[in-house]
Amino acid sequence: MRVFVSRDMASVALGADDVARAFADAGCDVVRTGSRGLFSIEPLVEVETDDGRIGFGPVGPGDVAAVLDGTHATRLGKVEELAFFAGQQRFTFARCGVIDPLSLEDYAALHGWQGLAAARAQAPQAVVDTVKASGLRGRGGAGFPTGIKWQTVLDAPAGDKFIVCNADEGDSGTFADRMLMEGDPYCLIEGMAIAAHAVGAGHGYIYIRSEYPFAIYTMRLAIERSAHLVAPFTLEVREGAGAYVCGEETALLDSIEGKRGQVRAKPPLPALKGLFGQPTVINNVLSLAAVPFILAEGADAYAAVGFGRSRGTMPVQLAGNVRHGGLYEIGFGITLGELVNDVGGGTASGRPVRAVQVGGPLGAYFPPSMFHLPFDYEAFAQAGGLIGHAGITVFDDSVDMAHMARFAMEFCAAESCGKCTPCRIGSTRGVEIMDRIMAQRAPSAAAQPDPGLLPSQEHGSLAKALYSRAPSRIDTSLDAQTSLLRDLCDTMKYGSLCALGGFTPYPVLSALDHFPEDFGARAPIKEAAE
Ligand code: NAI
Ligand code: SF4
Repeated sequence: MRVFVSRDMASVALGADDVARAFADAGCDVVRTGSRGLFSIEPLVEVETDDGRIGFGPVGPGDVAAVLDGTHATRLGKVEELAFFAGQQRFTFARCGVIDPLSLEDYAALHGWQGLAAARAQAPQAVVDTVKASGLRGRGGAGFPTGIKWQTVLDAPAGDKFIVCNADEGDSGTFADRMLMEGDPYCLIEGMAIAAHAVGAGHGYIYIRSEYPFAIYTMRLAIERSAHLVAPFTLEVREGAGAYVCGEETALLDSIEGKRGQVRAKPPLPALKGLFGQPTVINNVLSLAAVPFILAEGADAYAAVGFGRSRGTMPVQLAGNVRHGGLYEIGFGITLGELVNDVGGGTASGRPVRAVQVGGPLGAYFPPSMFHLPFDYEAFAQAGGLIGHAGITVFDDSVDMAHMARFAMEFCAAESCGKCTPCRIGSTRGVEIMDRIMAQRAPSAAAQPDPGLLPSQEHGSLAKALYSRAPSRIDTSLDAQTSLLRDLCDTMKYGSLCALGGFTPYPVLSALDHFPEDFGARAPIKEAAE
């Protein structure tokens, strides 16, 4: 009997390897796949039957007999018919969790290489035009139109051009890049080969964060096995060095060149003067992996889905305190509330949702009163946030939002590359201001402390002790400190060289604006309501 068990790192962390071994010991033909992306049912086992693949999950190694005779209590029926999957529009993740990621036969059987064949049958300009017409925008976070970026590189007069894939995925609560690389690596390779044909590049790099060893392993094997299919284009994997800032495109280029990852001033844009000074396409994993569908199915098929200027689908990642954490690929336009409450099922703790952070550690916090927001680049920008890499982290009503604002400053201070003053110095001053605010606010001002906090994260009492002896020239009143915090955020936002310093104000100011009671304000300015 054939059974399918994921070998995605998240599934493995939940025990998938032991489960796979138990089924193999029972004489089953075990196929290791990527994950379908719903982690609350992992380890998921799918049993091949005449009626399709029947899922059971979560399954343990002792459940083999009950699964094989179909009586196990976690029988889910056909996995693709579960509400979590049936509601999705899987353009990019169609094969993820379905195929053996390293099987060239599996990939080809499910439309693999059709996009590359279509691209190579066209002139480079026609391919760029198709990507432009699809409306695809950079899925790394900035949302810059991919076709326009490719046009800049195509038009650049140079002999050596490069395709660089940004797989540094540093945003907290995001895992789409990893899932794609582990679950459908040929899709990324095909996307990069299409980009190479479109702009005239001969070589590509995939820069993968070192925290993703299995993605690195999978991509290296996939590159080796598919080399003959993408030739003359060649590819290699570069392992990141663990700094958040190396996800910034110019720091990433420095890192590939063997230098310390530091942000370069722009201009010149990497599209004109990028890797080794040559015109370079740098795209996120998800941008490149969306391209095979666009070339195979046509720009219209992709652009037909979406909202406003945000066309196509977005693989949204639900994480944090959420009941059904996982990856949900859907056309833009779904509301934040639908994602958190309907798809995610609310909090895992069962307590009310108080806040969600959208877009990683540099993203804004939104209260439930803003859950009507459609998932769309422009709508989120207008609301003082960003959708970034589409990571949504959910918090229940035990969260202390002043603590989260302090964490944003602390994160920036730890990860700053140090090149510019607003970020390097501002983030440290920001931590100090937050400590003063947290020391001044009334104990009842904040929500109950999160019992999961480490003792070292409880700053209030230490700061209170320190600042009670602060020199008298510092006005430590709450009003003065929050006003200072706003000024500092303004300086960081407009004075920083890159998004790390420039976007740290988003989580800080959104926490202050939407949850003023946690900063000691006497009366909430905006109620957090369902
Ligand atoms: P950006 O807006 O400066 O640039 C976006 C992209 O467009 C870059 O590749 C840039 O080179 C390119 N570009 C701009 N003008 C162009 C032109 N005329 N021709 C060709 N290319 C052009 O944004 P940046 O600093 O690259 O990225 C910031 C974003 O990164 C944030 O929105 C944040 O959400 C995201 N981010 C994502 C992370 C992740 O884990 N994926 C981690 C941290 C931040
Ligand atoms: Fe470096 Fe921060 Fe300046 Fe970015 S904003 S260049 S990370 S110091």
